[in-house]
Amino acid sequence: MGTFTSVFVLFFAVISLTAATVPTLKLYDGGNIPALALGTWLGNNTKPGANEVENSVSWAIDAGYRHIDTAFAYRIEDQVGRALAKKIAEGVKREELFITTKLWNSEHAKDAVVPALRGSLSSLGLDYVDLYLVHWPVGQFNNGTYDYTDYVETWRGMMEAKALGLTRSIGVSNFNQQQIDRLLELGLEKPSVLQVEINLNLQQPSLLAYCSSKDIRVMGYTPFGSLFYSKAKPDAPAPRVDDPALVEIAKKYNKTVPQVSLRYLIELGVIPIPKSLTKSRIEQNIDVFDFTLTQEEKDVLKSFDRNYRTIPQLKWLDHPYYPFEKTTQ
Ligand SMILES: NC(=O)c1ccc[n+]([C@@H]2O[C@H](COP(=O)([O-])OP(=O)(O)OC[C@H]3O[C@@H](n4cnc5c(N)ncnc54)[C@H](OP(=O)(O)O)[C@@H]3O)[C@@H](O)[C@H]2O)c1
Ligand SMILES: *[C@@H]1O[C@H](CO)[C@@H](O)[C@H](O)[C@H]1NC(C)=O
Ligand SMILES: *[C@@H]1O[C@H](CO)[C@@H](O)[C@H](O)[C@H]1NC(C)=O
Ligand SMILES: *[C@@H]1O[C@H](CO)[C@@H](O)[C@H](O)[C@H]1NC(C)=O
Repeated sequence: MGTFTSVFVLFFAVISLTAATVPTLKLYDGGNIPALALGTWLGNNTKPGANEVENSVSWAIDAGYRHIDTAFAYRIEDQVGRALAKKIAEGVKREELFITTKLWNSEHAKDAVVPALRGSLSSLGLDYVDLYLVHWPVGQFNNGTYDYTDYVETWRGMMEAKALGLTRSIGVSNFNQQQIDRLLELGLEKPSVLQVEINLNLQQPSLLAYCSSKDIRVMGYTPFGSLFYSKAKPDAPAPRVDDPALVEIAKKYNKTVPQVSLRYLIELGVIPIPKSLTKSRIEQNIDVFDFTLTQEEKDVLKSFDRNYRTIPQLKWLDHPYYPFEKTTQ
């Protein structure tokens, strides 16, 4: 083997050691969705700075992430766009990337959907996204008053956006089973994806079974739930990151407790969306594809399910399309 070839082989060996490869799942309408995505929401009390998300997306792509979850409402689509442009210029192919963004509540009128997506595409610097989601079934104007537009009308706008090629697939977020069923009963296009909160305290087994029966993929947001003391509300149920049962499982695989909780979601068939602005955590969170939990361990993880929501959005409780159970919390 010549020196040139050796250097070449070494180069690829290094790449394969440092960048994880994430498996993909099939979408019913033909796409392949990577089984883990980077989250980009900064939280509802945090104002976006200049480039923290641009950095996180760049580090994520270097670490092997190919799926980025963003939204108009996060006010950082431009930062995502700058990171994508940089990585594409460095040789990452657009076709390898899977970009998800979301329609905000203020744009629920059928004719508002396509212009809203065009705006997101312009911020992202893309010709199309891979997945466009209705962020919530709840409409609300920018002045705070409710928009009572039926989400069925919004969905017709989404179908139009897909037909125009502005997005490869369309889906919904924070819709309940009845709301999805209503789209299907009307004979409208089936959502490819449902994005909802899924974590150890909110495992949603019946919603997952429903989606599986309809061949709808599920993305799980806030995948760490109340694991971290810094984020957990005082009344949030266990576990925390130092829970002895979880620490024991993590030790067995030389993983961390956050990694074990992501792995559990993956084994439930859920696409977790861990968010981090920290390079080492971004790298850690994708390093979850080289171990498999035993049934006994999964039973331990299952035992933390409390139907506890970290994002109940109670402020929209009186909207006719409020999606969650109104009795708990
Ligand atoms: N569709 C919707 O309505 C909706 C709602 C909520 C969220 N989402 C999506 O889901 C994504 C994730 O949800 P989320 O942002 O609410 O919460 P999350 O991903 O469950 O938690 C994020 C927090 O965990 C920390 N963290 C991440 N990895 C860690 C690790 N390995 N060890 C210790 N700490 C770690 C992060 O800290 P640092 O950043 O400081 O590292 C951050 O404080 C969002 O970013 C967004 O893309 C969608
Ligand atoms: C809020 O905005 C909507 C849409 O622009 C408008 O129809 C409505 O009258 C406004 N309501 C108030 C109280 O300003
Ligand atoms: C355990 O994981 C760490 C971090 O990924 C790694 O550096 C270390 O080599 C691993 N140890 C063993 C025994 O595999
Ligand atoms: C968002 O902010 C409101 C008001 O400050 C708070 O009650 C709510 O818990 C926050 N939601 C999340 C998910 O942090």
